[in-house]
Amino acid sequence: MTTAPIADRTTAVAARATDLSKIYGQGETQVVALDRVSVGFRQAEFTAIMGPSGSGKSTLMHCVAGLDTFSSGSVRIGETELGSLKDKQLTRLRRDKIGFIFQAFNLLPTLSALENITLPMDIAGRKPDQQWLDTVIRMVGLSDRLSHRPSQLSGGQQQRVAVARALASRPDIIFGDEPTGNLDSRSGAEVLGFLRNSVRELGQTVVMVTHDPVAAAYADRVIFLADGRIVDEVYGPTADSVLDRMKRFDAKGRTS
Ligand SMILES: Nc1ncnc2c1ncn2[C@@H]1O[C@H](COP(=O)(O)OP(=O)(O)OP(=O)(O)O)[C@@H](O)[C@H]1O
Ligand SMILES: [Mg+2]
Repeated sequence: MTTAPIADRTTAVAARATDLSKIYGQGETQVVALDRVSVGFRQAEFTAIMGPSGSGKSTLMHCVAGLDTFSSGSVRIGETELGSLKDKQLTRLRRDKIGFIFQAFNLLPTLSALENITLPMDIAGRKPDQQWLDTVIRMVGLSDRLSHRPSQLSGGQQQRVAVARALASRPDIIFGDEPTGNLDSRSGAEVLGFLRNSVRELGQTVVMVTHDPVAAAYADRVIFLADGRIVDEVYGPTADSVLDRMKRFDAKGRTS
């Protein structure tokens, strides 16, 4: 008999970390940023990663996304073990299979919205799938802003360009480190809505680091990190249930 949730048995895993550790420095100055973390990210699932500052959220995301090396354990994107790849292969995997959305939108100021969206594919020498590109642009509501430069767009619109850029190449998984951290709550809600739609309607897999319980409530599940370890996991989060969980962390932190 298995006790795994049904989704575990029926849905493929887009990325998985097993016993993943990341240690910075040595001796007295050693910091264990990740302490044997095991976690899977299922296809077409939206996961939020939460936890206090310094708990290892960005480190986990960067290691799983192939942006950073790790000390021990393993990471798989689809069927590929990251540890087995040479630098060039890792670069190619990142380019072909992974999308990124950063807190600072990282758009090129001299390019139009459309040119920014297709830039990664242009660099890779790949032709965008026009139908898919149209779907993505329609979904993020940028159809009438495509020739605008980033400076002519609001913060929310710029981040929507970044979301479209991440979606455009149909990556296996999209990672965002506080993708709404620089947005007002209305623009943030728009971007989170698009991310959730991309999961629901397009089957995209999304992993997002956030400090905001309202943002986390857009996800299908929330994993909580503390001191480099996963300490809890909540399915079907609401802003209230997430806030409740965070308060318990705070109480623990103060009494210890
Ligand atoms: N380059 C580095 N050298 C040494 N220690 C580091 C380095 N990068 C991160 N750390 C440490 O690793 C731990 C985890 O950092 P990480 O950036 O993953 O935290 P975080 O949960 O993303 O925090 P925040 O919410 O503030 O972004 C922290 O204690 C941090 O000081
Ligand atoms: Mg961080």
